[in-house]
Amino acid sequence: MKYLIDSANLEDIRYGNEFYPIDGVTTNPSLVSKEKKDFAELIDAIRGIIGNGKMLHVQATAKKAEDIVAEAQLLRERLGEKFYVKIPIGEEGLKAMPMLKEKGIGITATAIFTPQQALIAAKAGADFVAPYVNRLDNITADGVQVVADIVELFDIYQLDCQVLAASFKNVEQLHRVALVGAHSATISVDLLKAAIAHPMTDSAVEGFDRDWAAAYGDKTVADLL
Ligand code: E4P
Repeated sequence: MKYLIDSANLEDIRYGNEFYPIDGVTTNPSLVSKEKKDFAELIDAIRGIIGNGKMLHVQATAKKAEDIVAEAQLLRERLGEKFYVKIPIGEEGLKAMPMLKEKGIGITATAIFTPQQALIAAKAGADFVAPYVNRLDNITADGVQVVADIVELFDIYQLDCQVLAASFKNVEQLHRVALVGAHSATISVDLLKAAIAHPMTDSAVEGFDRDWAAAYGDKTVADLL
């Protein structure tokens, strides 16, 4: 499964990129606005941190298909081949998708809440669809089941489109979308940290350190070789 960081915060992105095997970064207009920075400088800085080899998903804000395409082209020129334009599912977005496909620009259909939205976006040419798991759970729908249905539909119809599960609030949601075959998930750095944290791991490491120190004091493995 691919892991992406869902953030526009440079500190978080730098941290996540340094310590975790991430495949890219996703942003959205809300995440970007929170940073109160010059937009162009911010996305350039994100690209600078993760390098050209990792995916960077940035949302278009235009409403008409032709304007979405124009924005995507500008972003692509700036952010390179591994840029994906996020487009909320809707008629103008669906119209823009084949045009973007033609130009070889990566597409992520976002704000997905139903399997049919995902299926139609995939048919229109989206490379990724982003279902919002926690927002579905919050309205007592089943976010994981929506992801599972989309994965199944893409499989049945052999569509060349991946699920980029989004909107997570806990590790259980992340684990369950992984189990149903989500190809990727975009999460906060805090959730990445929570996903690897375990008190038994801490206690195991404490035991190793105690036993080692009893035998070799403060010498490290390298010191003894
Ligand atoms: C992803 O495309 C969305 O921007 C994001 O994951 C939404 O998450 P939220 O529900 O925590 O705002």
